[in-house]
Amino acid sequence: MTAFTIEELAIPATIDAPDAADFIDMTHVRNEIEADAVGTSELTYEPAELLPNWQDPYSPQTCLIARVDGRIVARAVYEAPVEEGSTDAWFDIGVLPAFRRLGIGSTLFEQLVAICTADGRTVQQSYVIHKRSDGAAQLPSPTGFGSVPRDNPETQFLRKRGFALEQVERVSRLPLPPDPASFATALSAATAAAGDDYRVVQWTGRTPQKWLAGMALLHRRMSTDSPSAGLELSAEAWDEGRVRALDERLMTSPRTHLVTAVEHVRTRTLVGFTDLSVPPETERPVDQQDTLVLKEHRGRRLGLLLKLSNLQYLAQSHAGHPAVTTFNAEENRPMLAVNEAIGFVPVGYGGGWKRLVG
Ligand SMILES: CC(C)(COP(=O)(O)OP(=O)(O)OC[C@H]1O[C@@H](n2cnc3c(N)ncnc32)[C@H](O)[C@@H]1OP(=O)(O)O)[C@@H](O)C(=O)NCCC(=O)NCCS
Repeated sequence: MTAFTIEELAIPATIDAPDAADFIDMTHVRNEIEADAVGTSELTYEPAELLPNWQDPYSPQTCLIARVDGRIVARAVYEAPVEEGSTDAWFDIGVLPAFRRLGIGSTLFEQLVAICTADGRTVQQSYVIHKRSDGAAQLPSPTGFGSVPRDNPETQFLRKRGFALEQVERVSRLPLPPDPASFATALSAATAAAGDDYRVVQWTGRTPQKWLAGMALLHRRMSTDSPSAGLELSAEAWDEGRVRALDERLMTSPRTHLVTAVEHVRTRTLVGFTDLSVPPETERPVDQQDTLVLKEHRGRRLGLLLKLSNLQYLAQSHAGHPAVTTFNAEENRPMLAVNEAIGFVPVGYGGGWKRLVG
């Protein structure tokens, strides 16, 4: 029987702080587990790049770590949004492959449940990357789009604990650079489709003052208007202060954020945006983060215009990265159609799981 201990991880103020060593080790454990599941280390975020997420006062997180002989071998994250009346809690449990089937995952799960119970939340949810298992029996998504391997350890782990699969997510990868001729054709077609009613605006880093209110609305709608299937997501309350606070946190990361937004010219309001997170090392892939077009402006190829314009901005300002990676709901056909048209190909699948308690 391998002995292990569990404790709460202290979140350092900066990555250079004297107490940051455990946070750095925990992040490497996270990355090793993720790379094992997806089969590539291309999704890796370095400790200094992840630290700003842990300092988000709007979505506080608690991290438990398990040690064997002093070494961190597993982690469990509890995250609960601060929105008034929200009932959802998010679990993320991972054990290094060499330390599985020792009861560590179960013990961490029970401790997250205890935190969740004390927090009074009744909806436990988890996003999980499922390791590919070609030819294995599949568990279909209730959305009718996608499936995950039914007999994988994580699938069994979650089902035995009363979680149900609610949604499948696709991990996609776009090799860079795209073919220049077809890229230029697609961008001019999307620009023509948008016509004179819309205008592309772009910035790096902090949101320009004039777009703070617009970005607050877009972030709010991102939390309610992207497909979440049977998962329960709190409607996030965003104002200009929250956008600015996010900007300031991201400025402490070594990554650079490139934002492209679309302005509706007549009303001078933003109606869509997309965000690329660029790591400092050119040999690492870029992470495609949020993309949203407001419902009332959909169907005008603005999603394609946003993504192509931001990729062009990337090529102009940060050329040389090998790829862009992204996550999308498998039932989100409009977004997947845009990505496939640009050249993204699927490289992995994740699941969104839910358990109701109380
Ligand atoms: C899922 C995971 C956290 C389990 O961690 P673990 O420390 O191996 O879990 P435990 O030793 O406590 O095992 C608990 C139960 O998980 C299930 N399980 C784990 N591995 C399994 C396997 N290879 N086959 C079938 N069931 C398995 C069983 O129900 C097991 O109970 P049992 O040993 O009494 O049969 C681990 O496999 C992991 O880190 N996977 C990658 C990250 C991930 O997918 N996390 C999802 C959970 S949020």
